[in-house]
Amino acid sequence: MKTLLKLTEVSKAYDANTGVLRGLNLETRAGESVAVVGASGCGKSTLLNLIGALDRPDAGRVEFDGEDVSSFNEKRLAAFRNDRIGFVFQLHHLLPQCTVLENALVPSLIKKTDGAQRRAMELLDRVGLSDRLDHRPGQLSGGERQRVAVVRALINQPSLLLADEPTGALNEEGADELMDLLLRLNREENLALIMVTHSPRLAGRLDRTLKLENGRLA
Ligand SMILES: Nc1ncnc2c1ncn2[C@@H]1O[C@H](COP(=O)(O)OP(=O)(O)OP(=O)(O)O)[C@@H](O)[C@H]1O
Ligand SMILES: [Mg+2]
Repeated sequence: MKTLLKLTEVSKAYDANTGVLRGLNLETRAGESVAVVGASGCGKSTLLNLIGALDRPDAGRVEFDGEDVSSFNEKRLAAFRNDRIGFVFQLHHLLPQCTVLENALVPSLIKKTDGAQRRAMELLDRVGLSDRLDHRPGQLSGGERQRVAVVRALINQPSLLLADEPTGALNEEGADELMDLLLRLNREENLALIMVTHSPRLAGRLDRTLKLENGRLA
C-alpha cells in the first residue's frame, strides 16, 4: 500500500518554554487505521490539527499523497481540508437548527459536489439513520449525533478520517457501536483512520497503536 501521510521531524510549540511536538515522525499508508494514545496534554489534538492542516508546524514537513502541505497557500489549504480530510471530534458540533440531512450535507455546500444528497442519504442509511433524516440534533441520542457527524465527515469522500476521542462522550456500548461503524467505513471505503483514544480496548481494534510521549511517537 502506498504512503498516504508522512510527517518528518515535525515540531510545534505554543510558547517559548517546552515544545509540545519535538521532531515527530509518522508515516501511514492508504486505508490504514492507527490509534494515537498518550497522557492528557501530551499533544494528541495538536498532532491531529497539524495533520489536518488546521494549524501549521513550526518546523518539519507534513506530506500528503507526496505533496508538501506546508507549501500550500490558504486557499489551497482550505480546499485540501474540505476535500481530502474528514474530522470527527469528541463533541459532534452539529448545527442545532438544521436537520440530520442538512447537517450531513454541510461540507458538500462548499465543494458543490454532484450527488451529495444521494450520498448523504445512502451513508445515513448505512449508519442506521434513514428514518431520522428530518430530525434535529436535539432529538437524537448521543450515539446517533456522532453517527451524523461521521456521515458529515465522509460526505466529500476524504482519504483520511481524523477522529479526536470520537467516543469520549459515549457510554461503552455506544463507543463500541461507533467503533464498529468507523472500522466498517475504513474497510469499505479504503479510508485511512487516525484516532485519538484513551481506551486501550478501542485502540486494540485498529491496525497499529502509537504512543505520543515527550513530543514524539513510539
Ligand atoms: N492554542 C493553544 N495555546 C497554548 N497552549 C496550547 C494550545 N493548545 C494546546 N496547548 C497546550 O499544548 C499541550 C498539548 O495540548 P493538546 O490539546 O494537544 O493535548 P492532548 O494530548 O490532546 O490532551 P487531552 O488528552 O487532554 O485532549 C497542552 O499543554 C496544552 O495546554
Ligand atoms: Mg486532546
